[in-house]
Amino acid sequence: MTLTTARRVLLTGCAALLGLALVACNKKEPAAPAAPAASGAATSAARIYVVGTDAAYAPFESQDEKGQIVGFDIDVVSAIAKKAGIEVKFVNTPWEGIFNALAQGDRDLLVSSITITDQRRQTMDFTAPYFDARQLIAVRADSKVSRFDDLKPLKVGVQNSTTGDEVVKKLQGNNSPNIKRFESTPLALKELEAGGVDAVVADNGVVVNYVKNNAGGKFKTVSDPGFVPEQYGIAVKKGNKDLLATLDKGLADIKADGTYDAIYAKYFGTASGAASSPASAASK
Ligand code: ARG
Repeated sequence: MTLTTARRVLLTGCAALLGLALVACNKKEPAAPAAPAASGAATSAARIYVVGTDAAYAPFESQDEKGQIVGFDIDVVSAIAKKAGIEVKFVNTPWEGIFNALAQGDRDLLVSSITITDQRRQTMDFTAPYFDARQLIAVRADSKVSRFDDLKPLKVGVQNSTTGDEVVKKLQGNNSPNIKRFESTPLALKELEAGGVDAVVADNGVVVNYVKNNAGGKFKTVSDPGFVPEQYGIAVKKGNKDLLATLDKGLADIKADGTYDAIYAKYFGTASGAASSPASAASK
């Protein structure tokens, strides 16, 4: 779209200056993109790995005012890429369909706070874990909810097909009409604010961040010891052994040289040894 607009401006400019500046305009005409090298024939020159991420998940991945994709996951993968000497480009990719985009080769890897699960392992490969997480409940400040079980008869918002969705399904049953599924976690949290749901269940880091930055004193969080620990991994297409090895090596390297800890501290303020601290910090 940008290119089209740029061209139109360029053409308009050329028309206006017809005759006079035609040569100059011609010179500025962007060169046609070089035909991509046939796969396999590409030299080491500039292979750019496309990273899919659902950038509505602060502080892990979100878009800043300029539309730039930023966050903990982005810093981690950028640091891994730098270590590994590969080039990456982040592309905002809706959660629904993100795994398909990987399977179809539209994305080379995914970093999107993706919990490593046995079910997902059947259709994609994961690096070693890079972050510890758990589910956390968000409710309005005046709510009586004090544990997960209390959500059984209530309307609960989740992001569709996340681990939050899974745990609530287990509690209420697969077909419960009280599970309200949203395209993104912020949308579910907005609905909580609006009163359309009684609670939201999502990853601790995101819930804590939202409550801190958006919901003022309107929300509180409730943790439950029954939530099983989760770990995030970077996903590659099943069988993409080379890329997986490159990423795993890079991850081990940034953990060993302190880069990972520095990134962790930038976002969560404590050493990564206490990876579940966002939850504990939030629940009090
Ligand atoms: N960790 C959860 C899962 O893997 C939620 C991840 C959602 N990530 C996102 N960027 N929206 O199911």
